[in-house]
Amino acid sequence: MLNIEDLVLTVVDPETGQETEILHGSTLALRQGEALGLVGESGSGKSMTLKCILGIEPSGARVEGRVELDGTDLLAASGDVLRRIRANDLALIAQNPHGALNPVLPVERFLIEGMSDARNLPKAEARERAAELLRQVGITDTDRVLASYPHQLSGGMLQRVVIAGAISGEPKLLLADEPTTALDVTTQAEVVAILDEMRREHGLSMIFVTHDLDLAAAVCDRLAVMKDGEILEVGTPEEIRDHPKTDYTRALMAARPMLYPEGHEANRGADRGGDHGTNEEADA
Ligand SMILES: Nc1ncnc2c1ncn2[C@@H]1O[C@H](COP(=O)(O)OP(=O)(O)O)[C@@H](O)[C@H]1O
Ligand SMILES: [Mg+2]
Repeated sequence: MLNIEDLVLTVVDPETGQETEILHGSTLALRQGEALGLVGESGSGKSMTLKCILGIEPSGARVEGRVELDGTDLLAASGDVLRRIRANDLALIAQNPHGALNPVLPVERFLIEGMSDARNLPKAEARERAAELLRQVGITDTDRVLASYPHQLSGGMLQRVVIAGAISGEPKLLLADEPTTALDVTTQAEVVAILDEMRREHGLSMIFVTHDLDLAAAVCDRLAVMKDGEILEVGTPEEIRDHPKTDYTRALMAARPMLYPEGHEANRGADRGGDHGTNEEADA
């Protein structure tokens, strides 16, 4: 459903005019209903890849190659077509859920405005639909949450609200960019489980960006390992675990003792002292 071919992203420094190539020719394909994990350390180009799909690369940047969603080349599409695709077919779940919600509107308004046919619904019915969305993501005290403003809710609760909103728009493709990195550890597991369940239930395709190989392996059908703006290898979690193609992938695994236990073949020769994948960064 998504075909990325030879994607090259070049950013231009507005002051010096200096050009820097950030993505060096990525090629990736995503099947309908598939979850693909995009894994790599901070700065490897994961978020920029998603931004190119969404058409929100930094201003002045040049994007070359093909990004094709169900037959439409997003890089060649007109502004109108792009806006429609962005509104209907793509949903971004970012690291910081606060960015997705208007701070001066209650959760109820956020959810109702995201519904495709909200304008035609009586108020009470729209509200009940919003409550039902919240129940789907495991929220039981729906009255309180619907009436809350973003700052009154925890990050985990807000990220559930964002997921509910994303699902309600019935997108084709979910783009999740480190959706749990900003949450505390116990909440992380819950939110990932809900995202995974929602995605499967609704048959959505997903690109799941993370620096955490274990986490990606747990929720994704295939993994793509990224480093320095390049995709080093793509495979199922088992293929990557049993036959890593690069030293970098081996090092990433060595930093992940849960999935790849001590003594596993994948660990041998890898740099155990490295800090791969442990960096966190605040997305803009
Ligand atoms: N607005 C920007 N302008 C220029 N370069 C950027 C910008 N944002 C990020 N970069 C650079 O692009 C590279 C990839 O960044 P990013 O995709 O955010 O990495 P990741 O999401 O994997 O941590 C990094 O080298 C980063 O410094
Ligand atoms: Mg990022």
